[in-house]
Amino acid sequence: MSKRVSLTQYLVEQQRLHGHIPGQLRLLIEVVARACKRIAIAVNKGALGEVMGVAGTENVQGEVQKKLDIISNEVLIEANEWGGHLAAMASEEMDTIHTVPNRYPAGEYLLLFDPLDGSSNIEVNVSIGTIFSVLKKPNDDPNQIEPVSEADFLQPGSQQAAAGYCIYGPQSMLVLTVGDGVAMFTLDRETGSWVLTAENVKVPADTKEFAINMSNMRHWDTPVKRYVDECLAGQEGPRGKDFNMRWVASMVADVHRILTRGGIFMYPWDKREPDKPGKLRLLYEANPMSFLIEQAGGAATNGHQRILDLQPEKLHQRVSVILGSKNEVERVTAYHQEAK
Ligand code: AHG
Ligand code: MN
Ligand code: MN
Ligand code: MN
Repeated sequence: MSKRVSLTQYLVEQQRLHGHIPGQLRLLIEVVARACKRIAIAVNKGALGEVMGVAGTENVQGEVQKKLDIISNEVLIEANEWGGHLAAMASEEMDTIHTVPNRYPAGEYLLLFDPLDGSSNIEVNVSIGTIFSVLKKPNDDPNQIEPVSEADFLQPGSQQAAAGYCIYGPQSMLVLTVGDGVAMFTLDRETGSWVLTAENVKVPADTKEFAINMSNMRHWDTPVKRYVDECLAGQEGPRGKDFNMRWVASMVADVHRILTRGGIFMYPWDKREPDKPGKLRLLYEANPMSFLIEQAGGAATNGHQRILDLQPEKLHQRVSVILGSKNEVERVTAYHQEAK
C-alpha cells in the first residue's frame, strides 16, 4: 500500500519545504477541517439526528434558514474562536461580523464562510458542502489595537491566503488551496483523518459540459443566451461539437465536478432582479471558488472582469459568476465584451 499523507502532514510540509503557510494559518486550516468533520457527521445523521428541516428564521439576504445552515455556522464559530489564530469571522448566515471574544487571544486572520452550501439539497440527500476563504487582517501591527471592522473584510479575492470547500457527498472531501495549486483530501471515516487523494489538480482548458440553471433562460442577458444557444446547437452549430449539461444546484458539487473533469459553471446576472449583480455571494462563494479554479489553471469572471480583482463594497455583496475551463470562460467573457 502506498504511503498515506494526512492533511496535517501536507500542511507541515507546505510550511517547512515551501514556506507557504505560517503556523497560525496551518492551525486555522486544521481547525476548519475539524469543524467540517463535525458538520459531515451531522449531515450523515440525516433524519436520525435533529438536523433536518427549517429553523424558522431568515438570514440577512432573506433566505429561509435550514437547521443545518445554523448548526454548521455554530460549529464553525465554536471551533474557531478560541484558537488564537483569528481576529474575526463573517458568514452568509450572520448579519454582521463575529469578532473573537476578548477572553480569547486574537490572531491575524479573518475567516469567511458559507457554512452550508446547497441548502435546497439537504432534504433530497444530494451533495452539499461548506465553502471558506481566509484573509489576513490588514494593518496587523501588534501595537495598534484597533478593533476589527467590516471594512477589514472588503479585500479583493486576490488577497486570499487560503480557500477551500468541503463536500458532503458519497465521500466527504476537503479541497484546498494555499496558493500553491489545489489538493484534495478524502475523509477516512474509520480513522477520522483527512487523507491526501489528489494533488496538482488541473481543470482542462476545453470542455463539452456546461452548468447553468436553464429555467432562468428567459431572463438571461444576450451574451449568456448566445453562449448556451451555441452549446445546444451541438455538432451542427458554430461550436461543431455536442455539449452535455449538468446542474446539481449545490455550487460545491458543480465546482467539484469541474475540478475533477472540467466544465463551465454560470450563475450570471439576469433580468429577474436587475438591480442585483447576481445570486451568489462574492466573499463566501465566488472568491474562494475562483481562487481554487484559477489555482487549477481555470478562469473565473463576472462576464467583464476577473472575479479575484473585484473590490468588494459590502459584506454580503452578490456577483455574477462564470468559472471553469479557461477557453470557455474566455469565450463567454468575450461575448460580454462584444455586446457592450
Ligand atoms: P446556499 O445554499 O448557500 O444559499 O447556496 C445556494 C446556491 C448555490 O449553491 C447554487 O449554485 C445555487 O444557489 C442554486 O441556485 P438555484 O436554486 O437558483 O439553481
Ligand atoms: Mn443560503
Ligand atoms: Mn452557497
Ligand atoms: Mn449557504
